[in-house]
Amino acid sequence: MFSNKDITQFAELETPFYYYDLALLQQTLDSCAVAAKNHGFHVHYAMKANFNHRLLDRIKATGFGADCVSGNEVKKAIERGFDRNQIVFAGVGKSDREINEALDADIFCFNVESVQELEVINELAAKKNKVAKVAIRINPNVDAYTHHNITTGLDENKFGVNAWDLPACADALRQSASLEFVGIHFHIGSQITNLDVYKSLCVKVNEFATWFEDRGFVVRILNVGGGLGIDYHNPEQQVPDFASYFKIFGDFLEKRDNQEVHFELGRALVGQCSSLISKVLYVKNGKKKNFIILDAGMTELMRPALYQAYHQIENISKQDVSAAVKYDVVGPICESTDCFGKEVLLQETQRGDLVAIRSTGAYGEVMSSHYNLRENVRVAFGE
Ligand code: LLP
Repeated sequence: MFSNKDITQFAELETPFYYYDLALLQQTLDSCAVAAKNHGFHVHYAMKANFNHRLLDRIKATGFGADCVSGNEVKKAIERGFDRNQIVFAGVGKSDREINEALDADIFCFNVESVQELEVINELAAKKNKVAKVAIRINPNVDAYTHHNITTGLDENKFGVNAWDLPACADALRQSASLEFVGIHFHIGSQITNLDVYKSLCVKVNEFATWFEDRGFVVRILNVGGGLGIDYHNPEQQVPDFASYFKIFGDFLEKRDNQEVHFELGRALVGQCSSLISKVLYVKNGKKKNFIILDAGMTELMRPALYQAYHQIENISKQDVSAAVKYDVVGPICESTDCFGKEVLLQETQRGDLVAIRSTGAYGEVMSSHYNLRENVRVAFGE
């Protein structure tokens, strides 16, 4: 990903910053678009993964819709020119203000997560003489076999309507003149690398679609969410295998004629196109441990501190790849969890070297914070 030319260019820039490789982003988007089109599937980009404008503009230009989880994400999607008919609004805690604004914006649909939320949307839509399109987010109780902090589709999770609440949901839909039922929605978790999980999801989607049809509902949309993982251990494996992913849904979903299948991919589209570039401030060689102290910390990239997430770390100032010293790579924040990697094998490192923390395009820049009164994280783009 990085050539010597890149390194010289980085040397001019103040660190830390997210470097976005827009050519790789485009390649990833194109690959996903082609694979989805082969099956006639629709993709809504999960904007929470990264709402950097330069990325959003590319994603919109590829023809994808937007999956939003807050009123501000809905506003941002509209502002960046996403088609309102391709904007969906999910989230377990939509406020009245957010619902009203989304109704005013005439977005495609609300992914509704409880019976009470159905009642509130019905009431607010009625006041505006509008009919809100809704899909029911169902919690299918499918284990995604991913980190427990990013699992969402089990009975113990707060997301979606549980199976035992579906009769009440169906009643609420029948009684609500200001709601139009369009389909069912699922999202079982993130960073899913075992694709068999999606076969289990398809079985559940088929069952729940039939459940609604048996009760007289037309299920026009099957929204199966996102979650496709990326290879953090091998960032060179840059474009995810979208063809195999979509094929599972093509093979296992019992799609009816005129039914649309929707996806909400975030990480798989943007994860590999970025690295966090940071400068080595200090090297501390101890008896038991060596530390590299970077100018980036958990305030710039929170994933390792929050989920013990692995990101590959490279010293990009060194040409010699053979040298090997083990370092704990840490940031400057006053927290012991402010650590990007323990016992990381790197070339012998000096103050001033540049380090790349790879695969940071998803849930990186957007989860940065001002803790310790840190500055806004900087960004740079390459093509
Ligand atoms: N749809 C819904 C309803 C979601 O909740 C999410 C992610 C997605 C789609 C997109 O999932 P993706 O394709 O990106 O896996 N901050 C965590 C990830 C949280 C994911 C939240 N929901 C991380 O850094 O790993």
